[in-house]
Amino acid sequence: MELIQRPRRLRQHPALRKMVRETRMDASSLVYPMFVVEGTNRKEEIPSMAGQYRYSVDRMEEKLTELLDAGVTNVMLFGIPAHKDAVGSGAYAEDGIVQQGFRKAKAVSPDLYLIGDVCMCEYTSHGHCGLLKGQEVDNDATLELLAKTALSQVQAGADMVAPSDMMDGRVGAIRRLLDQNQYQNVPIMAYSVKFASSFYGPFRDAADSAPAFGDRKTYQMDYHNRREAIKEALLDVAEGADLLMVKPAMAYGDLIREVKEQTNLPLAAYSVSGEYAMVKTTAAAGFIDEESILCEMAVSAYRAGTDVYITYFAEELARCMASGRIG
Ligand code: PBG
Repeated sequence: MELIQRPRRLRQHPALRKMVRETRMDASSLVYPMFVVEGTNRKEEIPSMAGQYRYSVDRMEEKLTELLDAGVTNVMLFGIPAHKDAVGSGAYAEDGIVQQGFRKAKAVSPDLYLIGDVCMCEYTSHGHCGLLKGQEVDNDATLELLAKTALSQVQAGADMVAPSDMMDGRVGAIRRLLDQNQYQNVPIMAYSVKFASSFYGPFRDAADSAPAFGDRKTYQMDYHNRREAIKEALLDVAEGADLLMVKPAMAYGDLIREVKEQTNLPLAAYSVSGEYAMVKTTAAAGFIDEESILCEMAVSAYRAGTDVYITYFAEELARCMASGRIG
């Protein structure tokens, strides 16, 4: 048969397939989200996230060392306080749980790059991401507390802050307070395009942060919207964000691509707890091969335009990258 183009020609040898690969990645782009809990000698498995744990500060080192051994240097910390209140005071307490976590992680290794998730929901008794006025989340009153939270994380050792609350104007508010305190060089990674998503279910179980009433739809985005995603991303650029994020990752590849094309900042994608839990449970049932699936999911995010991939599978992926299975 006379065929001028035979795409299969480039697939005939493993070396050639790797030579012409379009998506390249390595472990330096991975971020591992880690939960720090109050108390001592605690390493508790999160029921909805098999293989993921909440660590007390004194048990963090074993996990951090394991990550570094695998080549994962970037860690995002989430705090789970012992006490919650209406104004989320644990979020910005000097000796709050996540602040203790940053101090500990800094002491474990200077090679770690630490990112703080800035939000109120793990710290408020009502579980919403901001201050309440009646039944509503008060945007403008929340900004000051978010900025305080970011500053306290940086003072405790966070190298970067990542606001995930979805209040309007929070990137600008955080930037101003950090600058006033001589932290001009601390970058902000904005959860710009964050949807009101059922994929966060297991996280809320992990962080005990489900809203006590209502949902997050008055602040997190409606997943029907594409143009609004660009609006959110561009607003964060204008307010001084240094990196942008799309969240969740799986099911949102179109928006990763879209934001990537319409902005010129590094772009993160967060493969969230529900994505992790689906892979874990389906693999445990024997219906899929866990490693193959997590590789395929990660590559699809990078192929869509991800520069920074935040995932509970960071360690496994780093090993797959190192062995050449992907990347
Ligand atoms: C805090 C926050 C959430 C996640 C990251 N930061 C929960 C939420 O918005 O309800 C979700 C992470 C995940 O599901 O893995 N607001």
